Amino acid sequence: MTSKKTGAVPRHIAVIMDGNGRWAKRRLLPRLAGHKQGVESLRRCARACVERGVQVLTVFAFSSENWNRPQEEVSGLMSLLATALAKEVSQLSRDGVRLYFVGDRSSLSEKVRHGLAQAEQQTAHNTRLILNICFNYGGRWDIAQAAEKLAAQGVAITPESLDKAMALAHVPDPDLLIRTGGEMRISNFLLWQAAYSEMYFSASLWPDFDEAELDLAIGAFNGRERRFGQTSEQIQQPSTPTVTA
Ligand code: IPE
Ligand code: IPE
Ligand code: MG
Repeated sequence: MTSKKTGAVPRHIAVIMDGNGRWAKRRLLPRLAGHKQGVESLRRCARACVERGVQVLTVFAFSSENWNRPQEEVSGLMSLLATALAKEVSQLSRDGVRLYFVGDRSSLSEKVRHGLAQAEQQTAHNTRLILNICFNYGGRWDIAQAAEKLAAQGVAITPESLDKAMALAHVPDPDLLIRTGGEMRISNFLLWQAAYSEMYFSASLWPDFDEAELDLAIGAFNGRERRFGQTSEQIQQPSTPTVTA
């Protein structure tokens, strides 16, 4: 998409859902209470994306580095994933959401893996919104697994072949990448796919990120000029011939 300021809704929004722990801490609650509230916030965000005509929502739920958290929090997050699946999938499906789980499943328990596969199957016919949940995901892992796959197949490693082997090959690259919680870093999220994503940083903690905040992010996106390496003049007069060599 090379258009600017069209008022169009981004086709693909990616979100680093950060700030659950601080949300809980401010209320003198255990960190897991923040993660639970984070699930509510994700449900609200997914519905808002459906209503606004966003086609793909990709969220960062658990990073490859989050295993290094206290064991109690890690096991709490694993249980929360299982509970959320059991509780949320039917409603998400009724809302027209198709779920994909993106990340390294090999270190997840058999029970969790089964739950993920079942949720994907149960929602496979839905077409209103693709919801990619990145769980045990890392951008470096993704690039490495793609390269490994190509090497095993004897396929030359090029930007195009890697692109097709990446974990998000089933969707276009994110147009808008939102990080909540105030930090301005990528924390090993979509290192490859975010090459030309518009970045938006919100100071709101993820459990507080509501429809109004989403609209602010979309509004900011609409004010950006996406140039993809071209000049502003070329974007404004798309008929200008492009010299390629
Ligand atoms: C993001 O919230 C969710 C996960 C990483 C699982 P945090 O748990 O990182 O919340 P803060 O950053 O400590 O507030
Ligand atoms: C990024 O948040 C991962 C998720 C939101 C799942 P972190 O809280 O783990 O990131 P850092 O440690 O602040 O960079
Ligand atoms: Mg954090």
